[in-house]
Amino acid sequence: MRNYLTGALALAALVGVSATTPVQAHEGVELLNPGFSFDGFLGRYDKAALARGFQVFHEVCSNCHSLNLVAYRNLSAVGLSEDEIKAVAAERQKQDGPADDGSYFQRPGRPADAYIAPFPNEKAAAATYGAAPPDLSLMAKARHNGPNYIYSLMLGFEDTPPEGVTVPDGKYYNKYFSPAISMPPPLSDDVVTFKDGTKATKEQEAKDVVTFLNWAAEPELDARKSLGLKVLGFLAVFTVLLYALKRQIWKDIHH
Ligand code: HEC
Repeated sequence: MRNYLTGALALAALVGVSATTPVQAHEGVELLNPGFSFDGFLGRYDKAALARGFQVFHEVCSNCHSLNLVAYRNLSAVGLSEDEIKAVAAERQKQDGPADDGSYFQRPGRPADAYIAPFPNEKAAAATYGAAPPDLSLMAKARHNGPNYIYSLMLGFEDTPPEGVTVPDGKYYNKYFSPAISMPPPLSDDVVTFKDGTKATKEQEAKDVVTFLNWAAEPELDARKSLGLKVLGFLAVFTVLLYALKRQIWKDIHH
């Protein structure tokens, strides 16, 4: 029995440690770590944060960034109703075709379409901003320590760079992206008005949009963690049963 206990303790320690280890950006700048609802073994997506995060993405980030791997209809998971999904999809035009006469044409987006990009192609995006805004579908997984990194990046802009650092024209200083980034600071207090009445501080917007982007990259997180818990529960019960069975089988044997 002692072995089981040690194992359980080691497991608990591992889970605890991975949730609290300080994090480090590539250049040695320590990332901010606000703590997300989906962190750790028992973490889950906060539904309200997902809805607010989508609002930030939709109203701010989607003016420059695509989200190619999320279809509009999937947005029911972040709280949009069927009618809202139709309306959001129809906000942008999508090229479709070829029609019977061989021509391509524009039509409003539909729920089955992937989120429509703000630019016709990457070159057009790069021409506008000096660098192409990358697709954000998998960004929370693509960067080391993704959620903390994106959160930090959102809050890392500074008007005056530290001494000795020169920022080229059309670029911006950000502590977490050296030497300078082509993205203008996207967030500020009250850049959105949250539908649920939450105060829209820069920090709140950043935290919520990261929650949304993590969902985009890993929509199955809740299901995965629930299954993990059920498996552990099953193993625990099974262990007790096996132990009882062993006692039953060996009860008449005296040394
Ligand atoms: C005005 C256009 C614009 C808006 C709005 C914008 N971005 Fe960006 N973003 C860019 C550009 C351009 C880049 C490429 C920067 C570079 O490579 O220098 C970028 C890069 C990024 C990166 C990648 C950084 C890396 O490590 O490569 C992330 C993450 C990001 N943006 C997140 C966001 C989020 C989240 C929002 C909304 C809150 C947002 N952006 C809004 C233009 C924008």
